[in-house]
Amino acid sequence: MPQSNALLRDVDAHAEPQAAQPQAFELRPLPGPLGAELIGLDLSRELTREDFARIHQAHLDHHLLVFRDQRITPRQHIDFSRRFGPLMIHVLHQFHLPGHPEILTVSNIVENGKPVGLGDAGKYWHSDISYKALPSLGSLLHAQELPSEGGDTLFANMHLAYDTLPEALRNAVEGRRAVHSYLAKYGQLQKEGNWRPNLSAQQVAQVQEVSHPVVRTHPENGRRALFVSEGFTTRIEGLPQDESDALLAELYAHSVRPEHVYRHHWREHDLVFWDNRSLIHLAGGTPDHLRRKLYRTTIEGDAPF
Ligand code: SIN
Repeated sequence: MPQSNALLRDVDAHAEPQAAQPQAFELRPLPGPLGAELIGLDLSRELTREDFARIHQAHLDHHLLVFRDQRITPRQHIDFSRRFGPLMIHVLHQFHLPGHPEILTVSNIVENGKPVGLGDAGKYWHSDISYKALPSLGSLLHAQELPSEGGDTLFANMHLAYDTLPEALRNAVEGRRAVHSYLAKYGQLQKEGNWRPNLSAQQVAQVQEVSHPVVRTHPENGRRALFVSEGFTTRIEGLPQDESDALLAELYAHSVRPEHVYRHHWREHDLVFWDNRSLIHLAGGTPDHLRRKLYRTTIEGDAPF
């Protein structure tokens, strides 16, 4: 006997919530040395295990994913980031998004005489938070407000940089370790602009220098990568400072050869997720009179080996 509509409505009202369905998104590798776009994925919706596994594998294969048109809240940005590992809290608490210490605001906007974010973040090539014993696995940067010109972010593929290293340089770095320090460029950045507050003793205590292998092995894809950058590396251990400076300068120049670099031109609501174990990055610069604001989460990784 057919059920009445009233009974059907009643059954619906008590039904279990529908399990999330896999999303039909497309992966389009970017031309060049790294990166892929994900089209048709909506991170404001619940992801299935299958969606997550595809995203994770794409991230390992391409090192950088561009999720287009993500209308997500800071909470959703944090929750998605956390699926990859614990989040790191940036030492510059002055630029945490209020109510969300997991988000660092990257911005050149000044309101009522106060910067809303870190205006010179990424001014030198670097891998995020390489100055910690457990540097970052990856970072997710979500566009909030974009300038009409400039504001690009550049990424260099450090696996390619290692693979193409001339033999003499490869021999010179084999088995070496380098020191990374948050303070490497801090004084210089303070002189160059008005973004950097003086650090409290507590902040300085959080950023004691560390040493890492110059060549690291990616813990998930098994590939070797150069792991030094002008932003945070201060010296190669066991070499006189002048020799260390000269070797680092050669490694930096090689790392960012044009054929290793992808330049990301931001579009509204882009979320970019890159692998700090595979890439270094650089903020390309924004004209002073144009506003730019992005939110960044940073996922903790493993001790480099
Ligand atoms: C960063 O280095 O995390 C910021 C990069 C950018 O603002 O383009």
